[in-house]
Amino acid sequence: MLDKIEVLFTEEEIQGRVAALGGQIGSDYAGRSLVLVSVLRGSIFFTTDLARYITLPLAMDFLSISSYGEGSEGVVRITKDLEENIAGKDVLLVEDIVDTGFTVRYLMRSLLSRNPRSIEICVLLDRRARRIIDLDLKYVGFEIPDKFIVGYGLDYKQQFRNLPYIGVIQPDRF
Ligand code: PRP
Repeated sequence: MLDKIEVLFTEEEIQGRVAALGGQIGSDYAGRSLVLVSVLRGSIFFTTDLARYITLPLAMDFLSISSYGEGSEGVVRITKDLEENIAGKDVLLVEDIVDTGFTVRYLMRSLLSRNPRSIEICVLLDRRARRIIDLDLKYVGFEIPDKFIVGYGLDYKQQFRNLPYIGVIQPDRF
């Protein structure tokens, strides 16, 4: 089954890029402390690796969202909220992938309403061909083609999140 996955980014390429992002974030936020807000479930691998490449004191918090599925783009709700109060904090929203941008726009509005000191977006994969909402993505790992992606947190029917690499699949072949 795994032989049907075409590798897009190897484990080494991903780790190298995440390390570079972590280094950049570490210098941008030098002297400050950061809250990483990770969006379950796809972002967990990226978040935990990124956190280990940021040599600053930081807190991590998680939220879960649910979208209402096909044909209801932009309709998102939070099904598990943050545990901590982010008022006055420097917040980095960590996402695995941005497509249309509806999810990140919704999350940014929700987080901004809680009065953080600052907030920026860090996304591993930017599938820009699908973008509808204009977003300012401060940290981007890779731009990717408009293909079905699995691995390193991303799933197909809840499978393949655990792959250490990122690959392209053709869903009709599974
Ligand atoms: C992905 C990703 C974002 C959303 C981006 O989540 O994690 O939350 O899609 O899409 P958008 O830019 O078009 O709004 P997904 O629904 O795959 O859930 P998962 O993280 O649990 O796998």
